[in-house]
Amino acid sequence: MAQLWGGRFTKETDRLVYNFNASISFDQKFYKQDLQGSIAHVRMLAKQGILTEDEKEAIVTALEEIGREVEAGTLAITDEYEDIHSFVEANLIARLGGVGKKLHTGRSRNDQVALDMKLYTRQELLDTDGLLKDLLKVLLKIMEEHTSTIMPGFTHLQKAQPITLAHHMGAYFEMFKRDRLRLKDIYVRMNYCPLGSGALAGTTYPLDRDYTAKLLGFYGPTLNSMDSVSDRDYLIEFLSALSMVMMHLSRFCEEMILWNSNEYQFVDMDDAYSTGSSIMPQKKNPDIAELVRGKTGRVYGALISLLTTMKGIPLAYNKDMQEDKELTFDAIDTAKGCLALFTGMLDTTRFHRERMRKSANGGFTNATDAADYLVHHGVPFRDAHAIVGQVVLTCLEKNIAIDDLSLVELQAISPVFEADLYEAISMETCVEKRLTLGAPGTAAMEQVIALERAYLAEDWQEQERRTKE
Ligand code: ARG
Repeated sequence: MAQLWGGRFTKETDRLVYNFNASISFDQKFYKQDLQGSIAHVRMLAKQGILTEDEKEAIVTALEEIGREVEAGTLAITDEYEDIHSFVEANLIARLGGVGKKLHTGRSRNDQVALDMKLYTRQELLDTDGLLKDLLKVLLKIMEEHTSTIMPGFTHLQKAQPITLAHHMGAYFEMFKRDRLRLKDIYVRMNYCPLGSGALAGTTYPLDRDYTAKLLGFYGPTLNSMDSVSDRDYLIEFLSALSMVMMHLSRFCEEMILWNSNEYQFVDMDDAYSTGSSIMPQKKNPDIAELVRGKTGRVYGALISLLTTMKGIPLAYNKDMQEDKELTFDAIDTAKGCLALFTGMLDTTRFHRERMRKSANGGFTNATDAADYLVHHGVPFRDAHAIVGQVVLTCLEKNIAIDDLSLVELQAISPVFEADLYEAISMETCVEKRLTLGAPGTAAMEQVIALERAYLAEDWQEQERRTKE
């Protein structure tokens, strides 16, 4: 049991208490960030004359060495240390003796852990954004290929009006684009450095917080030391954004599962992304899509869990906050894993144009257009609606589509119908006439695709990197 404290204690910590309190099993995940933060802290201490140049050099060199050894697996992070901060400091002291003991000057584990978690989350947020961008690229590719792949659009899971596959994929493009915007937003709000806040009330050393913030790639230091050590808003925001990502993925998975079913057969998922049955030899199951859908609950759970943990905590730091880590790590790993897998799955899925097209023909997806035809010939819309309702009823009795009725049969219901109706309600016409911005008509779709392409060409992370240089 290696602890950073103990001077004022007369008894050993109970073993169960030690285990209950320790966080090394999970906070070792950010050992790199802990070292990075310590190196920045030490550089700042030297710049301010609080440490000598020699002391700084010795500490930085040793910290970098610890990093390399952990990375190489020659230095193991073991549970004899309470947390990752204790592990690093103990190792440093073992190497440097007295000089190592100066590392923690003007710092508390409270601002240290606030920094580590923020550095870790910031990188994970950027990585998640990158994964979303990969998914958007695949979506755009499918959209470009399928502007004339006609399929039924649904409401209430009932065939409604014909659309195109490009249009359907475009809906998801918008969702994931908003997800990226949310991440960027969170990044902008969270990118302030808590280091230098001490335990809660700052410190008496003349720290240069602007300098540390700059070294660590932050916009600047946070402005209230009590808030700095107890702010976990950015984690809750990130979990909320991840929940939204998962909700979108889950809806998409649900559709892929439906489309992959024997009844729909709109898609064929690649063998590499499907699994078989131990008993039924014919089965090829969409397990990956189902798992992504299933894992959504885990991420939602993390969000609710952290919101609940935070709700009754008085200022400033309290140990409850240690609970932020395991669930956040799990949610991030889950969401990132799901994003990567889903992108691969989508990229390898084959779309059956013919099946989609055939499905659009059934289910009277052109009934609205038949009514619009009558309206163009002077029939008030409500009357046209009733007439086409009658047409549909006739078709249902005969089990055929509107286009299958003869002109004589149609005219028996309304004399307004002429031979040009068939052209007016063909699937192609139905789609092509929908040219309002955001609609499936090819010209409208091409316009949107050009906008999405331009959006993908500019990268906010790239811009962010450039402004930092
Ligand atoms: N392991 C702790 C956490 O994750 C680090 C901060 C400890 N601070 C303290 N005052 N006990 O929150």
